[in-house]
Amino acid sequence: MIRYLTAGESHGIACSTIIEGVPSGICVQKKDIEMDLIRRQAGYCRGWRQAVEKNELHVTAGVHNAMTTGAPINIMIYNTEGVHNPVWRNAIGAYPEEIENSDVTYDEAVNEKFRSVFIPGHADLPGIIKYRHECNNLRFVSDRASARETITRVTVGTIAKQFLAEFGISVLSYVTQMGNAKMEGNRDVKISDGIIEKVKFIDNQIINNFRATCKLIEERSLTIFDVPTKTQSENRKQIINILNENLAKLSDCEKVKCPNEAAAKAMVAEIDEARKEGDTVGGVIKIVAANLPPGLGSYVHCDKRLGSKIASSILGIPAVKGVEFGKGFDVANMRGSELHDPITMNGEDFFQRKTNNAGGLEGGMTNSEPLIVNVAIKPISMISKKAIQTVDIKTGEETAKTSGERADVSAIPSATVIGESIVAIEIANAIIEKFGGDQIDEIKENFKNYISYVTEFYKNIKSKKA
Ligand SMILES: Cc1cc2nc3c(=O)[nH]c(=O)nc-3n(C[C@H](O)[C@H](O)[C@H](O)COP(=O)(O)O)c2cc1C
Repeated sequence: MIRYLTAGESHGIACSTIIEGVPSGICVQKKDIEMDLIRRQAGYCRGWRQAVEKNELHVTAGVHNAMTTGAPINIMIYNTEGVHNPVWRNAIGAYPEEIENSDVTYDEAVNEKFRSVFIPGHADLPGIIKYRHECNNLRFVSDRASARETITRVTVGTIAKQFLAEFGISVLSYVTQMGNAKMEGNRDVKISDGIIEKVKFIDNQIINNFRATCKLIEERSLTIFDVPTKTQSENRKQIINILNENLAKLSDCEKVKCPNEAAAKAMVAEIDEARKEGDTVGGVIKIVAANLPPGLGSYVHCDKRLGSKIASSILGIPAVKGVEFGKGFDVANMRGSELHDPITMNGEDFFQRKTNNAGGLEGGMTNSEPLIVNVAIKPISMISKKAIQTVDIKTGEETAKTSGERADVSAIPSATVIGESIVAIEIANAIIEKFGGDQIDEIKENFKNYISYVTEFYKNIKSKKA
């Protein structure tokens, strides 16, 4: 079983993950992890932070010459801003007194980054009570509650996707709703033709666009961390201009990671409007896993159901408020006779279903149809202009201060990559659980035998047909 633990704060030096249980012999290229990190970071709805914060990836154990060895994998992702910026290092670092050549004192830094007004919807209020940060600095809660930590889960997801590719299984994701802008049939369980290629194309464009931005920043020698000097703030303006100019070159579909042009146009308009108003936007993402064998997961115990594992892990993503499989909440409006997917003998190697309303899961197990997961994500809590009533923990005063520090308009396109990673990890674990083995060829051999059995099973039934 793949297990992992993560550490790291939003503005800290690094986020790290130790991943245990990855079989040996899986090819994991550094560029594959980096591409997923870019897919998570880049986007039209993100704030300016994506332009100043560079992820520097170090895989320090468990991989040799791009192949997993079976030993625990250690992945460190340095946040170049956290590394270079003495203000952040002083304000939240482990040993601020070690910082040399800084013209910002510890007290000045803490004071600059001090946060005492609860952000409604964030972890501030219950978090500061639970962990008794008597300094009243909400920063110590929000920096860990922040979704920056999800970069670690994305790295585990890249490894899981590489593993699944060995079995011909692919996992992809896209945005189907943003605010009131919805893709037609956004909760459909049928995946239309060509969508996989379209989503891949969109992803490539996003990656190329982000790389072009980074190249221009580098060519113009603009430092990309946030030291509050005059030069740096001028640099930051220039960086944001480059970022915005490049983002404007993307098509609407690429801006919001939605393969439907009409819906993408409406989504971009929704973001532009929210940005103008200084507000934030929620939405729905769809994750699809294709080419699954039947029988992953189990019905024999509640914690072995694949649906329960996926739902639990998806709900571990900050801001996720709902998970549906297949028709999801719509099952309540349907009669049994129209909901359940008819089984036919039309398939070549396996039964064919006329519909996939179950979203690929029956009895907590895959049934060989594509796995369809819809995920509802709330609008981000840090809002740049519109104020929500709240309280200042230091003074006890009620206030309606805005909380837009570095806020994104929406996390929805980024969340696609995170959700996709989580689903990939859970499916990889279901494969490891069913087919065992410490090394990839061993697992593949067991998998091949099982597929032969499944095909034989079907052919036997088919042969009974007159
Ligand atoms: C990719 C991503 C980016 C996010 N960015 C922000 C952000 O910029 N500001 C913010 O307030 N919340 C952001 N969030 C959501 C918060 O992390 C989340 O709302 C908070 O931790 C409280 O957890 P809860 O919403 O699950 O209750 C983001 C979430 C995701 C998935």
